[in-house]
Amino acid sequence: MSFFPIAHRKPGFITGVALTLGMTVILSFTSTASGAPGDPARGKKIYKGLCIQCHGVKGDGNGVAAPALMEKPANFTDPKTWQMGDEAFYIHVIRRGRKIMPAFWDVIDPQQIRDVLSYERTFLKK
Ligand code: HEC
Repeated sequence: MSFFPIAHRKPGFITGVALTLGMTVILSFTSTASGAPGDPARGKKIYKGLCIQCHGVKGDGNGVAAPALMEKPANFTDPKTWQMGDEAFYIHVIRRGRKIMPAFWDVIDPQQIRDVLSYERTFLKK
């Protein structure tokens, strides 16, 4: 009889449980937390599906829907578009919308928002 019955278990079992829990925590963290950088290749697919109609094939704000809009969609080739705020500002605009820019918080997840944002940044003329 021991005060620490757990010590009599096979060490492999305890290590296995600890590793599994650790991996679960790490995996769920990387998929939801703001740490992972955006992937422009994945962002391009999202852009073509959801953003291109307004922001345009070239990211210049001249999408097919643009003439019908009361406000011109942001021109991603213009440095001024990227001087409005920090990364959190742009994430917020995509999540919540701004003026006639629609909100996407319930359409794409936080990782997809970073992906599409990183793709939009590739339009900026260097
Ligand atoms: C219905 C047309 C429309 C669609 C679709 C659209 N946008 Fe926009 N977007 C706009 C307009 C208009 C603005 C300018 C808003 C403003 O004046 O602040 C804008 C601005 C932006 C800005 C710059 C921030 C700003 O306030 O100017 C970002 C970043 C952006 N959009 C990302 C996206 C992304 C990502 C998608 C697709 C997931 C998307 N937009 C889809 C119309 C659209």
